[in-house]
Amino acid sequence: MEGADIVDLWILSERQLATDPTFSQPVLSAEEAAKAAGVRAEADRRRYALFRSALRRVLGTHLGIAPERVGLRAGAFGKPELCGGAEAAGLGFNLSHSGEMLAIAVAPGMAVGVDIEHLRCLAARDRLVRRVMSPAEQERFARLPAAERSLAFWRAWTRKEAYLKGRGVGLSEPLAGVSVTFDPDEPPRLIHADGRPQDPATWSLHEVRPASDLLGALAVSQPGAQLRLRGLGDVTRDRGHG
Ligand SMILES: CC(C)(COP(=O)(O)OP(=O)(O)OC[C@H]1O[C@@H](n2cnc3c(N)ncnc32)[C@H](O)[C@@H]1OP(=O)(O)O)[C@@H](O)C(=O)NCCC(=O)NCCS
Repeated sequence: MEGADIVDLWILSERQLATDPTFSQPVLSAEEAAKAAGVRAEADRRRYALFRSALRRVLGTHLGIAPERVGLRAGAFGKPELCGGAEAAGLGFNLSHSGEMLAIAVAPGMAVGVDIEHLRCLAARDRLVRRVMSPAEQERFARLPAAERSLAFWRAWTRKEAYLKGRGVGLSEPLAGVSVTFDPDEPPRLIHADGRPQDPATWSLHEVRPASDLLGALAVSQPGAQLRLRGLGDVTRDRGHG
């Protein structure tokens, strides 16, 4: 993989983080600690602190600084981005959570978006299909065998959301303005993005299936980017090097 544009992806569970001697220790900024304190339910408060601290540790490893020194701020539509000295590193990153699972993607020199979703049946799926798919996608979707539609729906959803998160606009732009592949025999690919004709050639989409009930998509602003799955063992634990 040397020489390729590599995107590192961590898929971590809350339990994994909570039972690890390093990762269970919070490393929050004053602002994040205040935000955590304002979260009413204890389980949500604990999860926020664990996930945010994991993000800081992963970014700190990439930047070669202590996690508490990673400067973070929210962009125009809420996408977290680096600030202060770390901004110049040009490190793209993004995160997504679904229940007790957390995904963190880090892409040096690239923009990246990630979305993970637990696969589940949706009572309102047909209505959602009309809302989040373009007319051409709705036709393709209707031609799929009924047994393949649930996975296809989540493929479409996660790929579209990952792409919009990669651009930083998130759901402020409609999912139906983005077309992607979702058929089982087609690789993940951006087909069309409203107002951005160049993006299908410059963005790549990737799928991950970390568990039978968990689906993830990554969108990266480089056509040939390759994915590398990472684990807690790849994160620097020495906190005195920053
Ligand atoms: C971000 C957003 C896609 C959330 O989707 P979701 O499926 O509920 O959540 P996910 O777990 O996949 O992602 C949440 C994470 O995405 C990140 N995020 C937030 N805004 C983002 C954006 N605009 N682009 C990319 N990532 C974003 C955050 O890290 C957030 O986690 P955190 O709050 O714990 O830090 C959605 O809330 C959104 O689009 N918000 C921004 C746009 C908006 O608010 N529009 C309203 C009118 S302007």
